[in-house]
Amino acid sequence: MTMKPPSLILLILAITMPTSLTYAGQMPDRIHPLRTQAGSGGHRIPGVSCLSWRLAVETDNIRDWDLVPSSCEGYVGHYMLGHQYRKDCNAAAWAAYDYAKGLTLKKDGKDVWVFDIDETSLSNLPYYARPDNAFGAKEYNETTFKEWELEGKAPAVPAILDLYKRLLKLGFKIVFISGKSESLRSITVYNMKKVGYYTWEKLILKQTSESGTTAMVYKSKERKELEEAGYRILGNMGDQWSDLLGTHVGNRTFKVPNPMFYIA
Ligand SMILES: *[C@@H]1O[C@H](CO)[C@@H](O)[C@H](O)[C@H]1NC(C)=O
Ligand SMILES: *[C@@H]1O[C@H](CO)[C@@H](O)[C@H](O)[C@H]1NC(C)=O
Ligand SMILES: [Mg+2]
Repeated sequence: MTMKPPSLILLILAITMPTSLTYAGQMPDRIHPLRTQAGSGGHRIPGVSCLSWRLAVETDNIRDWDLVPSSCEGYVGHYMLGHQYRKDCNAAAWAAYDYAKGLTLKKDGKDVWVFDIDETSLSNLPYYARPDNAFGAKEYNETTFKEWELEGKAPAVPAILDLYKRLLKLGFKIVFISGKSESLRSITVYNMKKVGYYTWEKLILKQTSESGTTAMVYKSKERKELEEAGYRILGNMGDQWSDLLGTHVGNRTFKVPNPMFYIA
């Protein structure tokens, strides 16, 4: 096998990736472009490759993890910026649509699909690709993340935006439930509409009084209130298991990949 110069491979990557998700220009240069293999293994799990680590976090076998193992930063960066993340999102969206189109909706305005926002409907990948964040291999910084949120520049996750539009056509009402703070409502609404999420039944954000509540408890409570108001949650989609576990989870749940961070 001949080794291509890294710059050529980056160029090919940049050319072949659709423009809406082209972050090659922001790729920290210490991500070695040739390291597309499974990687050398998570430093806290001897003998486990980065691919095994990613599978274990996606399946919720590994829980309560703090950071992406530093040895897997390159692997996770490649996964997120390359084709595989997009393909995995497409697969989740395809499975969701395949289920949704087979349902007979009552069309009384109460057939609901729940979506999470961050890393499900919107992507913060331009933020996480920065060297300071290193795709989750560096400590979460509340201050810089909030600054990024306030820019309102998060792109849509293309597969999820497409699914959203298809669900609307099928007659679903859309409810977004996010752990974002209520104080970010106007910028969130602006960002969502700008990238194509133009309508919803409810967009639920976390109140200050709930800031001590875990995502799983908070989201369960919001879904319970939806059901008590007569809504039927037929589908529920999120990138965290805390979006999909707990109570009142809906008839079916769909996991969007996210190997960058874990929220309880
Ligand atoms: C977060 O980032 C800012 C700006 O780079 C920095 O000043 C601050 O020390 C960081 N906070 C933490 C907890 O790392
Ligand atoms: C959704 O789940 C509820 C409770 O299990 C059930 O009664 C209902 O028939 C299900 N709806 C669909 C469309 O599968
Ligand atoms: Mg999320």
